[in-house]
Amino acid sequence: MGSSPALDVRGLSCAVGGRVLLRDVDLTARSGESLAVMGPSGSGKSTLLACLAGLLPATAGTVQVCGTDVGALRAGKAAAWRLRTIGFVYQFGELLPELSAVENAALPLLIGGTGRRTAYATAERLLAELGVAEVADSPAGVLSGGERQRVAVARALSTRPPLILADEPTGALDEQATDDVCALLYELPRRYGTTLLTVTHNPSVAHWADRRLVLRGGRLSESADV
Ligand SMILES: Nc1ncnc2c1ncn2[C@@H]1O[C@H](COP(=O)(O)OP(=O)(O)OP(=O)(O)O)[C@@H](O)[C@H]1O
Ligand SMILES: [Mg+2]
Repeated sequence: MGSSPALDVRGLSCAVGGRVLLRDVDLTARSGESLAVMGPSGSGKSTLLACLAGLLPATAGTVQVCGTDVGALRAGKAAAWRLRTIGFVYQFGELLPELSAVENAALPLLIGGTGRRTAYATAERLLAELGVAEVADSPAGVLSGGERQRVAVARALSTRPPLILADEPTGALDEQATDDVCALLYELPRRYGTTLLTVTHNPSVAHWADRRLVLRGGRLSESADV
């Protein structure tokens, strides 16, 4: 990964079903930097994350993540690359409810071929570091929203990816849990050197980031406010 920026997006455009959702987007992020992207519902925030992760092809422009040209990844290699490189956190945790917290957190490692013993030990350590050791063996379906998000962060971190993409990670939480999860998320760059890109409607979540951007009409710009 060397000195490549964590994110280097140039002239990214994306159209789906004939509708242009992203227009000529430029975005760079240093390793260890935190960014928040705000924008009205339907402005293309989740679409942007999908393009960054190579889940949606660009119609123009390039996306580089830690020096890798995402658009040039072969289909067979993209999933393994994504597993190593990007951790995802979504609005509701998106855990598998019948699996325990530790099984959920270990899943990316198990999928990537790490042995069970190492995968579970890593997941348990992360749950402890993120303050949810006591629910490690509980089925994910019974956890509170805040606990779910902590487990989701542990899962996102399990493969030690250089980049975390968080899509409305606090959208389902009350004010206190939002603050707790933000404290945790925005500590990741310092604690693990991870680059963090959060998409949010909530100005008090965006406030935690090093840099804030706004997506409007498919265009991304730096935000002076918040
Ligand atoms: N696969 C698709 N096919 C057609 N339209 C799509 C597709 N994916 C997204 N869209 C449309 O693109 C627009 C942007 O969607 P996106 O989910 O990126 O918005 P968003 O900013 O994340 O919104 P929200 O804040 O509500 O999550 C929406 O109008 C959506 O309906
Ligand atoms: Mg969205």
